[in-house]
Amino acid sequence: MTVNDQPTYNPGKGEGSPVGVALLGHGTVGSEVFRLLRENSDEFTHRVGGPLEIKGVAVGDVAKHRGSVDEDLLTTDAMGLIRRDDVDIVVEVIGGIDYPRELVLAALRAGKSVVTANKALVAAHSAELAEAADAAKVDLYFEAAVAAAIPVVGPLRRSLAGDRVESVAGIVNGTTNFILDAMDATGASYDDMLAEATRLGYAEADPTADVEGHDAASKAAILASLAFHTRVTYEDVHCEGISSITARDIEAARSAGYTIKLLAICERITGDDGVTKVSARVHPTLVPRDHPLASVTKSFNAVFVEAEAAGRLMFYGNGAGGSPTASAVLGDLVGAARNKVHGGRAPGESTYANLPVAQFGEVTTRYHVDMEVEDRVGVLADVSRVFSDAGISLRTVRQEESGDAARLVVMTHSAREADLSETVETLKKLDAVKTVNSVLRLEGE
Ligand code: NDP
Ligand code: HSE
Repeated sequence: MTVNDQPTYNPGKGEGSPVGVALLGHGTVGSEVFRLLRENSDEFTHRVGGPLEIKGVAVGDVAKHRGSVDEDLLTTDAMGLIRRDDVDIVVEVIGGIDYPRELVLAALRAGKSVVTANKALVAAHSAELAEAADAAKVDLYFEAAVAAAIPVVGPLRRSLAGDRVESVAGIVNGTTNFILDAMDATGASYDDMLAEATRLGYAEADPTADVEGHDAASKAAILASLAFHTRVTYEDVHCEGISSITARDIEAARSAGYTIKLLAICERITGDDGVTKVSARVHPTLVPRDHPLASVTKSFNAVFVEAEAAGRLMFYGNGAGGSPTASAVLGDLVGAARNKVHGGRAPGESTYANLPVAQFGEVTTRYHVDMEVEDRVGVLADVSRVFSDAGISLRTVRQEESGDAARLVVMTHSAREADLSETVETLKKLDAVKTVNSVLRLEGE
């Protein structure tokens, strides 16, 4: 029997009742969701078990979308669209927090499953949204909210539900990776690359969310919640962005054999009090140039998961942009629609572990401290003493002339964040130290 003679399996044969979809937003992501839904509608009918029918497309300004969306589908009344009886599933790709929160809650409370790409909303209001979904026994899907096309929410929610995740870490913001990669590879300017990332549709409506790390912090909160079965919100994540990273930092990293990446790091740590806690942080980080994360270029993302039984897993792919994000949205939409047609629900929120969230000061890592110091005898000894007084061991010290001063770059062994930050404050007060140019953390060795 050849493969072609095999009987096909097509439950429901696509003959189930139509599933009505409300699309809220027709921007970078929404327009691709709309296009792919239209272009592949037959395929979706088979995968779902019944046709997916777009009942309306809510936008901010109807005039902008004439020609690309059938006029009778366009509306500015998102709430009215959600409440229509023929709408079963709501796809929210508007962005922001307050208004989409109202819309998503209204949809869930009306018994409609929701698919959203909105990490800011999920990271800020996960409890309320999960409760509303549970109360109405409907689904809340948000695969696209973390790392766009890369399936990482689903694997954490389902595939790794039988394992104990120890850490989740990686590059989860395409815009900042695009900027840092270009600055490192070509010496391009920060401002030019931010403008380009915005033009390409990677950046948020307000790109401050990207460059100041807020977008990655929302994603870190979502990842930590899923990985550790504990509620972690945006407010719980320590967040530093890349807006203060200079060409000089990048050059210093390069000459020491590193590249700078904005990393999100979520881990279980044992706090100063011996209690197991969850730590989630986002900051620019030095990564060795031969580490797999160093080869994640452009707007690509990569997420490492370390689990007790599975070991190390790496997820890599397109982390931003209209069609990669639409892929994740549509995967969720098919899941929600299948549940509507055949019954069943997606896994909901799981926060039973209820671990406390660690203070940032309790985190342990290694550091790269770049200083301008006086060029005279005894300076190195003075600086070393400040580190040793705090119990921080130095790994390498590099000094070079810089005009009438000297530039001193110190790399440390592992130290507590609280000790390092106290040390930096002491260094700033030392006569021999003119300025502390930057403090960057090191990971991946
Ligand atoms: P855009 O700014 O490109 O699109 C937003 C859409 O929402 C526009 O169509 C806009 O309408 C519409 N809109 C704005 N206000 C309203 C309103 N009051 N009522 C109805 N519609 C409204 O955003 P993106 O597509 O880039 O992002 C959407 C979501 O997806 C965000 O949550 C974002 O974080 C997330 N996301 C984005 C990714 C990306 O790479 N871009 C990747 C992963 C997630 P109009 O066009 O008329 O102004
Ligand atoms: N602005 C986000 C980024 C979009 O650059 O990663 C994907 O979530």
